[in-house]
Amino acid sequence: MTVQPKLIIHGGAGSSLKGKGGLIAVRESLHKIVQDIYNLLAQGGSAVDAVILGAKLLEDEPRFNAGTGSVLQSDGQIRMSASLMDGAAQRFSGVINVGRVKNPIEIAQALQAEDDRVLSDVGAAEMLRVLQLPIHDPLTDLRLQEWMEERKGNFSSSMAGVVAEDEMARRGTIGVVALDQAGRVAAATSTGGKGLERIGRVSDSAMPAGNYATNLAGVSCTGIGEDIIEECLAAKVVIRVTDGFSLQAAMEKSIEEATINRRDLGAIALDAQGNIVWGKTSEVLLAAYHDGTAVGDTLEWQIEPGVGSQA
Ligand code: GLY
Repeated sequence: MTVQPKLIIHGGAGSSLKGKGGLIAVRESLHKIVQDIYNLLAQGGSAVDAVILGAKLLEDEPRFNAGTGSVLQSDGQIRMSASLMDGAAQRFSGVINVGRVKNPIEIAQALQAEDDRVLSDVGAAEMLRVLQLPIHDPLTDLRLQEWMEERKGNFSSSMAGVVAEDEMARRGTIGVVALDQAGRVAAATSTGGKGLERIGRVSDSAMPAGNYATNLAGVSCTGIGEDIIEECLAAKVVIRVTDGFSLQAAMEKSIEEATINRRDLGAIALDAQGNIVWGKTSEVLLAAYHDGTAVGDTLEWQIEPGVGSQA
């Protein structure tokens, strides 16, 4: 039996849309990417192929903090992290703190077939060579200017959140969760990190805390990595579904807990029944979805922490 494909993507979460070019520009960008990914699903493409395509398109969009447009770390270097989880195979692969590559998700993709499926630093750089991926500088003028400003102030401002942007446009993470015609779920997440972080800091985006899927549901998170790790958010939501919660109830309970714990985060999710759900404790969640009929988004959704769904 053919299942109606479903899709949800995000470009971060945070306090406003200003630094990303404003509501109209972000909406246009997210809606176009959703439609491009959905076309693949509608043609029978797999959930795994859809989330890889989506992650690449979002990594290539400089307004989001992943791939090209990634933020700089405390030493002025870009180090990116990405992961892929094939829910049907229950297989997770990821890359941590890799530089000089256009699409970190491609390394996660290649690692799906390996025994060693999460690589960091030197191992990740070695995979670039093995895969013969061309060297790419993900730095944009805007990110460099932001870092220079911080440098002038001796890095006096607090660390940038991974969450969308406030006055500085350097925050964000990207993620994609898809359900394909065969009823398979997959999730992918990619990030440039938090911005100004210590060398060697590890993001949630290449951990099951930030990106997780089974044959029942998938979740991709955004926000402050440490908050997401401490909530173990993506895996927690999916495991609650495994234990019998509806996706909506699983997200509600998890966001309630994160709110009590004063976390700064957001998450997108869908399940094998085609339910599309999102949640956040931050003010804004930059998500868009395709329900099989139309594209929608969360850009003007409530400021308060909570959970929403595509009814
Ligand atoms: N959520 C991405 C990060 O903290 O790096």
